[in-house]
Amino acid sequence: MTTPARIAVLASGRGSNLQCLLDGIAAGRLDAQIVGVFSDKPGASALDKVPAESRWARSPKDFASREAFDEALGDAVAASAPDWVVCAGYMRILGAGFVQRFNGRLVNIHPSLLPLHKGLHTHARAIEAGDGEHGASVHFVIPELDAGAVLAQARVPVLPADTAESLAARVLAVEHPLLLASVQLLASGRVAEQDGRVLLDGQFLFNPLRLDSAGALQF
Ligand code: GRF
Repeated sequence: MTTPARIAVLASGRGSNLQCLLDGIAAGRLDAQIVGVFSDKPGASALDKVPAESRWARSPKDFASREAFDEALGDAVAASAPDWVVCAGYMRILGAGFVQRFNGRLVNIHPSLLPLHKGLHTHARAIEAGDGEHGASVHFVIPELDAGAVLAQARVPVLPADTAESLAARVLAVEHPLLLASVQLLASGRVAEQDGRVLLDGQFLFNPLRLDSAGALQF
């Protein structure tokens, strides 16, 4: 039996994506352990989902600079000895120093079909743009915001009556199985990043993997 992959999670808010990973581990669907939850918001509900000894939260306001915060965060994450660092609703931009430190094992879930709608307010922007489809992406993190290689995506339709809120809820419902399946794939050791591209089983991916309606990634 191999040791479960060690996953560090960065989260700023309610932590429903983190909860999905925890539920997946409990159900035997994710062969991993959450070795720490790290936050820039000391009040984030995500922190309550893990034991106190697995939590790290500091306010950036208590640091002299972005770099100083990132260094403290990076030291805490490194101390948990993660195989993978997963940003799951982490809303603060990570500086280049942090990204370099965890290069190749740092991923994020972003609520859009990247490369569309990088940054914030993705649901409202998808509606404004008249997109017929919207969704979520799991991608490697590079210093440029939401621009790293995409491993996997889940798609939902945009409906005529959608508001940003109704669309966000539809996307969140697929984010959870997308993140679970993606982290399971990462934990299995089959995925790597090379030259800004995703390698799966040693082959470059030409398109992101797609989540099917059963919650499995299509290869
Ligand atoms: C998710 O929509 C994630 O994609 C976005 O922030 C939200 C976090 O939700 N970046 P939660 O904290 O995991 O519930």
